[in-house]
Amino acid sequence: MGLHHVAIAGGSGGLGRTLTCELCNNEEIHVYVLSRKSKPPSYLASNVRWLEAPYDNIGELLKLLDCNSIDTVISTLTPSSPEVFVAQDNLILAAARSKFVKRFIPSEWGIDSSSDDEHLPLSFKTAKQSSLDLLRQQPSLSSTVVYNGYFMDYFGMPHCESFMLPEMPYIDIAARKAAIPGSGNELVTWTYTKDVARYVLELVRSEDPWPAETLIEGDKASLNEVLAIAEQVRGGAKFDVVHDSLADLRAGKISEIPAYEALYDVLPKETLLDWMAAFGVGIITGVFDLKGDLLNDKYSNIQPVKMREFIKMHWEGK
Ligand SMILES: NC(=O)c1ccc[n+]([C@@H]2O[C@H](COP(=O)([O-])OP(=O)(O)OC[C@H]3O[C@@H](n4cnc5c(N)ncnc54)[C@H](OP(=O)(O)O)[C@@H]3O)[C@@H](O)[C@H]2O)c1
Repeated sequence: MGLHHVAIAGGSGGLGRTLTCELCNNEEIHVYVLSRKSKPPSYLASNVRWLEAPYDNIGELLKLLDCNSIDTVISTLTPSSPEVFVAQDNLILAAARSKFVKRFIPSEWGIDSSSDDEHLPLSFKTAKQSSLDLLRQQPSLSSTVVYNGYFMDYFGMPHCESFMLPEMPYIDIAARKAAIPGSGNELVTWTYTKDVARYVLELVRSEDPWPAETLIEGDKASLNEVLAIAEQVRGGAKFDVVHDSLADLRAGKISEIPAYEALYDVLPKETLLDWMAAFGVGIITGVFDLKGDLLNDKYSNIQPVKMREFIKMHWEGK
């Protein structure tokens, strides 16, 4: 195994911070966080280097990558604004011109955003897809897009260890309320971010060629199954449940649950509800039910946490 120099763009954000924590604990890896900010946060581990990234300047980005002998770039930039994809595109172009960078993971970390609007009417998917196309056109870069379904973290919040925002999709375990897209019977792939990070560590350490797509699965469960687990763990009483139809969700109409309100300070209400409605369409139409060869099968040493265990661990007795 060689020594790797890995730059994590957005490495102090929600998912990025989890990846940074996992990768920097491995002696074969030197971790560098790329950020727009000049100063690192106080919690940054002492063996992680903080690099201020001039995302609007490809030449400067190239210098930054090559001065630090970066061989692998992992992007965890948020999809929340169009400028982000310009930043990721510039990072791809700098990486493609670099002497050292050979591998690039773009910011996806969920589902295949290339699904058509009937299946996923998501506002940022075109920008995400064109950034991915740009990456795949770079002959000097090997890349893999990581699909891990929905993060499981949300059903452990606020009790689990996670750096993600407390989104609580469709089932508010604290308030015992749910607004389920469609019947709630469709399967969804769920993975805890800490497990995503354990698999990403293996990807980075591996000298094998990367597949174009990497599928990771913590568990598969329908929202009705998650709801039943949550009701049972919370004492057995039924939650207050409504169902949103596919037509309503496609029209952007979604029932609110109390957990969404907690996010309105950090994400505009309209954006959050648009995303939740679009993801709801994705759940009903099967986009979140990941199918294909799993990276899990290659790394059977990793036992990702299952939904029942996760909810029990964080909600039993609360
Ligand atoms: N599967 C799921 O359930 C799920 C849920 C949430 C997110 N995700 C995916 O996970 C990935 C990371 O999301 P996240 O929620 O962890 O992200 P996040 O914490 O919101 O943001 C990550 C970082 O992006 C950087 N950033 C923000 N605006 C930027 C801009 N205009 N230009 C350049 N950098 C910018 C910031 O870093 P600096 O301020 O340090 O520059 C920020 O810390 C995304 O691909 C997202 O789609 C998946």
